[in-house]
This record gives sequence, C-alpha cells and structure tokens, in this order.
Amino acid sequence: MSVSEQQVEQIRESVNIVDIISQYVDLKKRGKNYVGRCPFHNEKTPSFTVNEEKRIYHCFGCHAGGNVFKFLMEIKNISFVEALKETASFAGINIEEESSFNKKLNTNEIYYEINELAAKYFSSNLLTSKEGETARQYFNSRKVKIATQRSFGLGYAFPGWDNLLNFLGKEKADILKAKELGLIDSKDGGGYYDKYRGRIIFPIFSANGRVIGFGGRILEKNDNVAKYLNSPESAVYSKRKVLYGLFHSKDEIRKLDKAILVEGYMDIISLFQAGIKNVVASSGTALTEEQVQLLSRFTKNVVVNFDADEAGQKAALRSIEILLKYDFDVRILDLPDGEDPDSFVNKYGKDQFEEKVNNSGNFLEYQMMRYEKAGMLAEPASQTEAIRNLVKNAALVSDELKRSIMIKTIAKKFNLREKLIESELEKVLNVTQNIPTEKQFIKKEIGISDKKVPAPNEKANPVERDMIKLLFEGNAEITGWVFDTIIPEEFSTEITRKIADIVFDAFKNNIVKPDELIDKFEDEETKSILRTITLDTKSISSKWEDISEAEDEESRLKKFAADVIKKYKINQLDRLIKENNEKLNRTENEEEQKEILEFNKELLSEKKRIQNTEGICIN
Ligand code: CTP
Ligand code: MN
Repeated sequence: MSVSEQQVEQIRESVNIVDIISQYVDLKKRGKNYVGRCPFHNEKTPSFTVNEEKRIYHCFGCHAGGNVFKFLMEIKNISFVEALKETASFAGINIEEESSFNKKLNTNEIYYEINELAAKYFSSNLLTSKEGETARQYFNSRKVKIATQRSFGLGYAFPGWDNLLNFLGKEKADILKAKELGLIDSKDGGGYYDKYRGRIIFPIFSANGRVIGFGGRILEKNDNVAKYLNSPESAVYSKRKVLYGLFHSKDEIRKLDKAILVEGYMDIISLFQAGIKNVVASSGTALTEEQVQLLSRFTKNVVVNFDADEAGQKAALRSIEILLKYDFDVRILDLPDGEDPDSFVNKYGKDQFEEKVNNSGNFLEYQMMRYEKAGMLAEPASQTEAIRNLVKNAALVSDELKRSIMIKTIAKKFNLREKLIESELEKVLNVTQNIPTEKQFIKKEIGISDKKVPAPNEKANPVERDMIKLLFEGNAEITGWVFDTIIPEEFSTEITRKIADIVFDAFKNNIVKPDELIDKFEDEETKSILRTITLDTKSISSKWEDISEAEDEESRLKKFAADVIKKYKINQLDRLIKENNEKLNRTENEEEQKEILEFNKELLSEKKRIQNTEGICIN
C-alpha cells in the first residue's frame, strides 16, 4: 500500500485542526476563529488564528501559517511524512510503513536521504575511523569537543577521490541525484569522483533539522583551493534561504527573544559550545531578505556580530538595511580588530562575550562611530553625506516612534535642528516610498490602506478583497456566484488576478476546499496574503459579523456573499457612472451628451434594481 493524494486528504480531514493545535497553543474562540499567542514568534497579544472549517492557521504577526501538517512540521521540527503519520495516528487511521511510501509522497525525500546518508558517513569518518585522526586533531586544536562535534553532525571527508562514491554505491544511492546535490561530480573520461576531499564537514540543516547541504573546510591553509566548499543550489538547498545554526538555536532565540548574527560556521560552533545558544550565521555574505524573513519568525531583535575586517563591515551595513526594512531592532557588536566570535570566545570566554552583547550599541550609534573613525565628520561635505546616509537608514524603519527617536539622536549628535533632519527624512521617504516593507506590501496588495504608504498605483479595492474571501469559503455554489459576477482578468491588482486565476482553474476541477486550494499556490508570500484575507474577520460587509443565532452557517454565508456581490456590482456601476460624467464634462457635442445621459440613466436604474434585490443577483 502506498499513500495516495486522496488518502493524504482523508487524513487531513479526519482531524480537527483546533484539537491538534490546542495541544501546543492555548486557543480561545473569537467569532468564527480561534485565537491564541503564536508559538512561532514572541508576542504578548494573540495574533495566531485558527479556523476550524477551513482547516488552516495563520499568524497575523509573523505570517506563519498553513494546514495541520505544516503546523506539526514546524512545531516539532519533523518532516512531512512524520507529520502525516502523527496526524493519522491522532485520528486512529493506520497507515502501513512501506519503503516506497516516503518517496511517493515527497519527491525531495530522496535527496534528503542521500544527504543524510552522506552526513552519517562523514561523521563516522571523523568520530571512529583510523584515518579520521587528522580531523580529530584539527578539532582538538580548535577546542571543539566531541559532544559538540556530535550535536552539529560534524564530519570528515577523506583525501581520496572515491570514498563517498564507493560508500553511496554500496548503499545503492542514486548517483545522479548525489551529483545534483554537489556531493560527487562526473569525470571527463566517464565515471565519477568525490567533490569533498580532505575537508572537515559542516552539514547544513534546514530549520526542521533535515540535512540540506554541506560546507567543507580545508584543514591547512592553501592558497590554491577555496577555504570552504559549499553545496550548490539544489532541490533541497537554497543558500539565500538558509541560516546556519538555526535548527539548533531557534528555541533559545525564541526564549530570549534575541538572536546574535555571525558570519561563519566556526563562530556558531564555538559560541554554542560556550553556552551562547541564540546564534545564527549568514555563512559569509550579507543577509538576504529570505533569511531575514525566516529569522523574523523567531525574534525581531538582533545583534549583528560580523568580523572586524573590511568585508565583514560591509556585509554588516548591508545586512542592517534589510533588517531595518523588516522592522528589526538592530544592535551592533564590535569585536577587537582581528577577532571573530569564534576566536574571541575561545580567548576570553563566555562572560566577556556576553558583556559585549549586553553593551552592544544600536546601529545608529555604531554607524556614527564608523563615520567618525573614517574622518567623515570633520569635513562639511562628507559630514552632509554621513547625515544623509544615517537618515536613509532611519527612513527604512517603519515604526514611527522608533523613527522619531532616531531623528532626535541624529539631530543631537550633529547639533542640528530636528526639523531639518525631519525634512531630510521626508525627502528620502518620498523616494523610497515605492519600496514598501513586507508588512506594507501585504497591506498594499490586499487593499488595506496604510497612511505611510502612498496610494498604490493599482487601486486598492476592499470589495475585491471580499470577493477573494468568498472564494475561500469552501462553498462551490458561492464560488460559482463569484465567477458569474467577475472573471479572473477583471480583478484590478496583479495579485488578486493571480489568485482568482488559480482558484478558477481549481474550481473547474471541482476543487473548492480552502486547505486544498491553498496548496495550489506556490510562493509563500501569496499563501500568506491569502490566509490573511480569508481569516481576517474584517470585511466591507456588515453581514459578515452580525451573527444571528437563528441562522445556520450556510445561510449566513450566503447572505454575506449576496451582500458582497451586490456591493461589487454597485461599485462597478458607480465607476461607470463616474467615467460617464467625466466624459460629459469633456464633450461639447450635444448628440454625445444625450447618449451619455441616456446611458447613465440606464446605469442608475440598474443600480437601483440591484440595491432593491434581496438575496443574490447574478444578472
Ligand atoms: N565562506 C565561504 N567560502 C569561502 C570563505 C568563507 O563560504 N571561501 C563562508 C563560510 O560560511 C565561513 C564564513 O564565510 O564560515 C566566514 O568566513 P571566514 O571568516 O573566512 O571563515 P571562518 O568562519 O572564520 O572560519 P575559520 O575560523 O575556520 O577560518
Ligand atoms: Mn574564524
């Protein structure tokens, strides 16, 4: 027996998502939803929302969300298959174990298996093999204890050309897939060879604890080869999306509500071993937006601790910009020249490192200090440039209060009037307004107005937003009504068009259930927007909230649908009437004026008809 898509659906439907999530989150019923404090980020007021009928959850704070499987995967750090099994057992459904079972369900499973196989191999080389002595000595010299080596799955690739290759062969692993993962490569004259040779190995884990890639470091300095060899992009590894160490540190990050961001593999290992466990690494470059989004699920407070070298400082400044854009509170930890977190903590110990963390200044002070060191504050011209740069960063902060504190700080530092800095800020804001922050982006796309965001080019339209909401009620009749009223192309923003398009395709295949529909969307951003729309209890229609006890859910829903559709139609008519009136103002031609007035009369009577219709009016 293997598990078909149908069975997956059956398993998903056999449990109540509220029951499952209640095991981890204290949920309270509020209207149609259940709410509680989000287990995926730190919050005081509950924005974590679960909907029983739709079988989905969404956090309005950190945008985590999905179906019951996703919840279990995230909260327990388990794979899809494990989440499926757990859900099945919760529901009392017995699914037989079978070897092809995993692979059928998740095509990526086979890649994970190869990576995990390789990781085990490298690890046993390091821990138990005779030839592993070189690597054991290396770690010993860098003060990495065996327990630490084990918990990070560290390993060693022997110097030969075909050690892993032979091992994978014996294990009957798919060699072509191992090549895709960057573990082996093909030789010019045919055959394969190991990519990682004579290197110590750092497996890279996903936030769920799966091995998705590897970093391999040479043991001795050698200018002819790269110090680190990292996995290429693959089906399971995307450098942009990974924070090294996160799997090990995420609980501590959540607990302390603070993350320390460092550059390298060894920094993570040494800090962790020293007992500083809220650490993640960007692996050598400036942070990416994806990494920042990932981190924001665990905390919004970060201490950036990049190397004191030029490259490290540059990376730090770029990283700060992205962090600010995502509303992080950013502090900078400066280490003495020539030290990185690994060397520092090994030399001076945990307490001194922690003292550094506690004394880390906010990024503004840090930047001002850097400009001062660079001599920029001495000359009027370069001072202006410095102020502009500082203001630019302040402009990235979307929290108004924080921003105004920053303005005060800058003004004070340079002995300038606050008004002056404010007007500079206004200038910058006008330029950067077109680059909305994540939150603003979502608000903009779903048509929630936000004072700080300029009116989007594409008209925000709350009625369309409610139309989308209707598409996620899991009611085929209502979905039909919506598509009788509006075709996907008619939605006015790109994102609503895209959503409607996909829902329409699914509708044609009789798929209307929200949890199934949401699976048809690929990117996380759209999914998050969708969950926001569908679980948000706000609506343009008053019919949404007024719960009359006498009515059943279905008739209530239909009333709501009828009301929204009515509002949509009236909106459309109003728009046409307005366009006509504008035309009327422009033309002198009497004939044309007459026609327009005639048309307007028709539109108005149509509007009246719709206004007076009780229930659904499709035509
Ligand atoms: N890095 C990389 N490729 C390189 C050099 C660096 O991917 N050729 C990444 C690695 O993730 C590395 C990080 O950048 O951990 C920081 O680089 P570096 O400071 O050179 O190395 P350390 O982490 O300090 O390593 P070590 O202490 O072993 O020298
Ligand atoms: Mn180092």
